[in-house]
Amino acid sequence: MELLGKVAIVTGGASGIGRAIAAELARAGAHIVIADVRRAEEAASIMAATLPEDASPQILGVYADVSSEQSVGEMMDGVRHHFGGVDILVNNAALFAETTGGPFEMIPLEEWRRVFEINVLGTYLCSRAVTGSMRERGGGAILNLASGTVFKGVPWRLHYVASKGAIVAFTRSLARELGTDNIRVNAIAPGFTMSDGVLANAEGFTDSIRQSAASRSLVRDEVPADLACAARFLCGPGAGFITGQTVVVDGGSAFH
Ligand SMILES: NC(=O)c1ccc[n+]([C@@H]2O[C@H](COP(=O)([O-])OP(=O)(O)OC[C@H]3O[C@@H](n4cnc5c(N)ncnc54)[C@H](O)[C@@H]3O)[C@@H](O)[C@H]2O)c1
Repeated sequence: MELLGKVAIVTGGASGIGRAIAAELARAGAHIVIADVRRAEEAASIMAATLPEDASPQILGVYADVSSEQSVGEMMDGVRHHFGGVDILVNNAALFAETTGGPFEMIPLEEWRRVFEINVLGTYLCSRAVTGSMRERGGGAILNLASGTVFKGVPWRLHYVASKGAIVAFTRSLARELGTDNIRVNAIAPGFTMSDGVLANAEGFTDSIRQSAASRSLVRDEVPADLACAARFLCGPGAGFITGQTVVVDGGSAFH
């Protein structure tokens, strides 16, 4: 229970990898804010019901569109009102499974912009919204979701891969800016993961589903739970001297 009493916001925490990370942070004792455009309150009540009876964390579901400055501000106002502040931010919300796969010339311009608005601007807006509170509380941890595609040069979703490359750069530079405030900034780079979003759009991922397990040293599919303990570690006191890093969690496919 190393996160007992801490407050953690997980964007996109209503499903997929975000939900697995949120549940693991709750098991470590943290109060959780599930900030999502879809089903945030429903996901929060389901998660609260699955915690052990003796667990004390509160799970709050809040509507938030990470690409909107106003929506992120309202979410943060709600978190301050309910919990008084925040210690941990997991920037997980992103457009991935619903993006167009194919040659880069075929990516609709509007979709390119939307991917960067959610994946990159959203990470910036949420990080900016929490740092004042983290400073007041003497420190904090920001964890970003990058992607193993950055290190492998995966083709056919260039807007998505480029947005995740930006997250690796963002993580490094923000770690330098916030180190003196005792705010650590790290990232996890998952491999291709059988998340809710991927399973719901499986027809667009037939090659990835067929090939990704075979590309790994540990030859099996990756599932959201594979990311959860790495996230718990990077958000917790055991990682107290780790910042600016991107940890690849993909069963040994990309070595970085
Ligand atoms: N699944 C993979 O193979 C994979 C691989 C590498 C990295 N990742 C990264 O992991 C993270 C989670 O991916 P996933 O596959 O679990 O996704 P998912 O599609 O299963 O879930 C994404 C969640 O984000 C929410 N969301 C979308 N837009 C939002 C917005 N504007 N504001 C707030 N919430 C929003 C969705 O409602 C959903 O609950 C993403 O950052 C993704 O890029 C995923």
